[in-house]
Amino acid sequence: MADRYLNLVNSPVGAALADRVGLPKPAKLRRYAPGDPVLPGVALVGSTGKAPTAVKRALTGAGVEVADTLVDGDKVSALVLDARGVATPGDLAAVREFLAPGVKALAASGRVIVLAAPADGADITVDTTRQALDGIVRSLAKELRRGATANLLWVTDEASLPSALRFFLSGHSAYVDGQPLLLGAGTAPAPKDWDQPLAGKTALVTGAARGIGAAIARTLARDGADVIAADLTQAGEALSKVANDIGGTALHLDVASTDAPQRLLDHLAAHTHGLDILIHNAGITRDKLMANMKPEQWDSVIAVNLESQLRINAALLAGDQLNDQARVVCLSSTTGFAGNRGQTNYGATKAGVIGLVRASAQAFAGHGASTINAIAPGFIDTEMTAKMPLATREVARRLSSLQQAGLPIDVAEAAAWLSSPGAGGVNGQTLRVCGQNLVGA
Ligand SMILES: NC(=O)c1ccc[n+]([C@@H]2O[C@H](COP(=O)([O-])OP(=O)(O)OC[C@H]3O[C@@H](n4cnc5c(N)ncnc54)[C@H](O)[C@@H]3O)[C@@H](O)[C@H]2O)c1
Repeated sequence: MADRYLNLVNSPVGAALADRVGLPKPAKLRRYAPGDPVLPGVALVGSTGKAPTAVKRALTGAGVEVADTLVDGDKVSALVLDARGVATPGDLAAVREFLAPGVKALAASGRVIVLAAPADGADITVDTTRQALDGIVRSLAKELRRGATANLLWVTDEASLPSALRFFLSGHSAYVDGQPLLLGAGTAPAPKDWDQPLAGKTALVTGAARGIGAAIARTLARDGADVIAADLTQAGEALSKVANDIGGTALHLDVASTDAPQRLLDHLAAHTHGLDILIHNAGITRDKLMANMKPEQWDSVIAVNLESQLRINAALLAGDQLNDQARVVCLSSTTGFAGNRGQTNYGATKAGVIGLVRASAQAFAGHGASTINAIAPGFIDTEMTAKMPLATREVARRLSSLQQAGLPIDVAEAAAWLSSPGAGGVNGQTLRVCGQNLVGA
């Protein structure tokens, strides 16, 4: 479903009209295309404490040009502030000092990344000040325009810093805005080739015949993985097309069926050298107000969106088909954070998934340093959302800081990054890919 409004306000006549009437002006986002540099211009790097050596090393390693000071009149493509040194509310002035002139110089589709140390319970004033950074980043994200984003990295361990900086600075994270993410300890090797970070990996994507699942299957293949695209038997031709397009294989699998975990294990044993990446994407909606909710509407959504993930994960952890340093990514939704009228069943499953990854993180870490994380998409243009009435869809599209819906590729990029070796320090987290959706942000 093309966003005609976005195209209109990006034409000269439409832009002038939108300005005159005060209408939102969503920008064309900087999305990744193979061969793109991590950042098209300079990153201004600052710190509230010690010299940001690790940050600079990671940036130069990613081919990013780094500057310590702003040159009058010059634009920068990113502002990266290492704010791990803040300890008192007075220290936050240094954050303003860096960001205020920096934001004025930020180019279209620019990136603001703030690194922070999470609260550790050692000192009330320090923990208070650290949390204040969250409010700065979320508010700044709402102020930025022209496709620029701001995100916060809580860092307890720098293992995944190089990979996280590449993701958040590049076009891979175009629709991730106003979000915090915790980088912790983990095994996070740099890939041999950053353009093919999933080379040699075997991945399975459920619900891969269309929408977000198809985009994830294509993106994992783009990044070098051998992909098994799984979906219902009814998905037939659409599923075969995705599998053929990416040189992968198709698997008919109803994730909610009783024998799904065993069939999956059997398939992996017969056709692969074990699974490296699993994307639990299959999902359904059966919306009704609670007062009118029928048992079958309740049960089917719980079975497909939540129980299937628990059962398949348990079977993989108990069996011998999940390789070490595996990556599992589960699809949640901003509804799992904020709730949504008419979606108590769906909301249960999507909040449940947030709990599932948090509760499973240790078990996966214990399985050869594997990880499990979730992605919570906001409003994404797919066949699921195309069913909405036109007016509701138009309003929903504008209700984010980026003033537009996301595309399936935006969710797929996050899934591909969380599936990559370098993201090994991210575990048990839920990353929202929602353009800082005003609902559930
Ligand atoms: N589209 C959005 O805006 C949005 C927002 C938040 C979360 N999500 C989540 O993202 C995921 C994908 O959403 P989408 O919009 O691409 O949906 P979609 O309806 O377009 O596609 C879902 C796919 O899952 C498959 N599927 C359904 N039940 C299955 C089962 N039992 N076994 C195997 N496959 C099954 C379907 O055949 C279909 O191919 C879902 O989990 C959804 O809840 C979507």
